Amino acid sequence: MAKSFFLATTLLFIVLLLVEDSLKIQAQTCNPSGKIKGTKPPPGQCNTENDSDCCVSGKLYTTYKCSPPVSQRTKAVLTINSFEKGGDGGGPSECDNQYHSDDTPVVALSTGWFNNQRRCLNNITISANGRSVVAMVVDECDSTMGCDSVHDYQPPCPNDIVDASRAVWEALGVPKSDWGGLDIVWSDA
Ligand SMILES: *[C@@H]1O[C@H](CO)[C@@H](O)[C@H](O)[C@H]1NC(C)=O
Ligand SMILES: *[C@@H]1O[C@H](CO)[C@@H](O)[C@H](O)[C@H]1NC(C)=O
Repeated sequence: MAKSFFLATTLLFIVLLLVEDSLKIQAQTCNPSGKIKGTKPPPGQCNTENDSDCCVSGKLYTTYKCSPPVSQRTKAVLTINSFEKGGDGGGPSECDNQYHSDDTPVVALSTGWFNNQRRCLNNITISANGRSVVAMVVDECDSTMGCDSVHDYQPPCPNDIVDASRAVWEALGVPKSDWGGLDIVWSDA
């Protein structure tokens, strides 16, 4: 009786330790870095033309300095962006300080994947819808800040975004009515 009680409590203890360990490992992957409070865009700010979100006054937005680990098949959400002058991407691209034609396959990556410009002008392979396309990384989708004039009063980027030009969506054969918010996988090309 006493022996099996000790055995049971010992086992329970070990299980608890294991659970705690795996929670710690999960926590290591990528935690939020903070929150920012939305401010209402001034009149004429925040272009909603291509499904761009605008910050809502008083709403809290989670920020991230990290993104999920990169693998051969990194899961992400594909969104649409214009990299042209006057488009919803804001200023010129961070990697080369230039605008890009939306007819070229270019992308912006969430801050963690952008990795302090280390993926700048590298190509990534994006797969979805049974097709693949190679696209060049030219910009950052800022997960650390937002809701200010620099970011056209758009919320901070989630940490798992590949924000792509029209050419990427066309190459993947996605019908125009479905552009935006597609589950994809990507890898370094
Ligand atoms: C919306 O997307 C289209 C296609 O990429 C682009 O031609 C247009 O300039 C975009 N509009 C804005 C405001 O970004
Ligand atoms: C990425 O692809 C483009 C277009 O194919 C090519 O011009 C460029 O050299 C490639 N970049 C790298 C770093 O391989």
